[in-house]
Amino acid sequence: MSSWRSFECREQLDSELANQIAACLKLDIERHGTASLAVSGGNTPKAMFRHLSNCELAWSKVDVILVDERWVAPDSPDSNERLVRENLLHNRASDARLHGLKTADADPENALAELHARLAHISRPFSAVVLGMGGDGHTASWFPQASNLRELLDPLGSAELAATDPISAPHRRATLTLAAVLNSRNIFIHITGDDKKAVLEGAADTGAPVAAILEQTITPVTIWWAP
Ligand code: 6PG
Repeated sequence: MSSWRSFECREQLDSELANQIAACLKLDIERHGTASLAVSGGNTPKAMFRHLSNCELAWSKVDVILVDERWVAPDSPDSNERLVRENLLHNRASDARLHGLKTADADPENALAELHARLAHISRPFSAVVLGMGGDGHTASWFPQASNLRELLDPLGSAELAATDPISAPHRRATLTLAAVLNSRNIFIHITGDDKKAVLEGAADTGAPVAAILEQTITPVTIWWAP
């Protein structure tokens, strides 16, 4: 249950996706007094985050969490939390409440109880979840070679968070599970380039992890793409 929104250029994609996310947040603030947004890291969302940071809404009523996190210090260049702080929590969005997924624990497995408690008060369903995708068809930190991929992709799983070793990418990770991501009013997959478009279009055939998002019928999914 997914649809595409394709754009001529990345600038237009970033601006339009930011506006769409802002609309989702505003709607939940109007209806429920609060909103929650789960975002992914990586390079693709940086410019979109900057557009989103300038959108006018009651950001002090918005909880922002990470879809996944590399198990590195929050000031590491590889930290998704740092990426979100540097690109989203500025301008009008500086009042948003950011909840990172990194703790002082040596390994994310030891942090899961604390992380579940950290997310427990954040409103569900999420107003929106923004996912990226790697060239191998991973999304969140659901990597093809991960030994616990089946656990991560169990749509009926009770755990919202899990630790995982990507094998094919650096750093142990803490990640939302599929079950947690599906507890959202909207899922936006944000990708660019022809290569990623081909990977996404072929995901059902290859069994790439992102297919779990495309094949489910619980939550509306829109793919936002530009060349
Ligand atoms: C991460 C992300 C991951 C990302 C993809 C795409 O921690 O790496 O959450 O899922 O969205 O790897 O990354 P790029 O946008 O950099 O291609």
